[in-house]
Amino acid sequence: MTQTQPRISVDNIRSHKNKDEPLVCLTAYTAPMASILDQHCDLLLVGDSMGMALYGMDNTLDVTLDMIIAHTKAVMRGSQNAFVLADMPYGTYEDDPQIALQNAQRLINETNCSAVKLEGDQSLAPTVELLTRHNIPVIAHIGLRPQMVIEEGGYKIKGKTEEQARALLEDAKTLEKAGAFCILIEGTIEPVSAMISASLNVPTIGIGASANCDGQILVIDDMLGMLSGTPPKFAKQYGHIQNDIDKMVAQYSKEVRTRIFPSEDYLYTVKNNPLRKAS
Ligand code: KIV
Repeated sequence: MTQTQPRISVDNIRSHKNKDEPLVCLTAYTAPMASILDQHCDLLLVGDSMGMALYGMDNTLDVTLDMIIAHTKAVMRGSQNAFVLADMPYGTYEDDPQIALQNAQRLINETNCSAVKLEGDQSLAPTVELLTRHNIPVIAHIGLRPQMVIEEGGYKIKGKTEEQARALLEDAKTLEKAGAFCILIEGTIEPVSAMISASLNVPTIGIGASANCDGQILVIDDMLGMLSGTPPKFAKQYGHIQNDIDKMVAQYSKEVRTRIFPSEDYLYTVKNNPLRKAS
């Protein structure tokens, strides 16, 4: 796709702090879907939720950097307006800031995407600082962190105790100070996400974190009703595309089996049948 105007930038995202109109964000994993979403969204996240949405995995933990790179390239090809954010997958950034830097540089250099997202608490501040110092824009993902699913024994809503609320606020402030230009808050009770949003100078994007955030994001498959399991409470379904696909494929199957398809409209023909000459 040829680029006609510059994409939404880090500064555009940053300037959405406390604006009347929140940022509109969705996940995207493929070029055709990105080209549909591009005209409606400020930000497209190539999320590691692709593990469940596309690959039939139980969680995000087996998604690799190569998978994220391949799908980010596709989303970049399919879009020209949106800010494209790529997830750093599990195991590529947590243990060593230098390894995180190498992997984030690979992600940015090979895909030309706009920024990277990593899940973490305040212990990740040195990594965020290092990436930011190397001009890699970072969004930090706090609250419910899907990459912690095994460690925490499931997906647990956050901020339910005063201790958790204080720790989350501290995480957000520390990651902001380290250079994160936006904080994504997932699965966090409303008063806590509202307090975090109000306490930061950078915008927040919420998923299951209330309307108090500066933007909202959903997993595209969840909102379309293309479900790979039971959707979380926060995932409003705007349709049931799975049912639509089921109906269409059932119709196709019936038409093939009864030889209704392909009918004449779908045949290649020529005026003079070349086989007639040969006989
Ligand atoms: O991978 C993903 O889709 C995400 C969203 C849940 C924000 O991180």
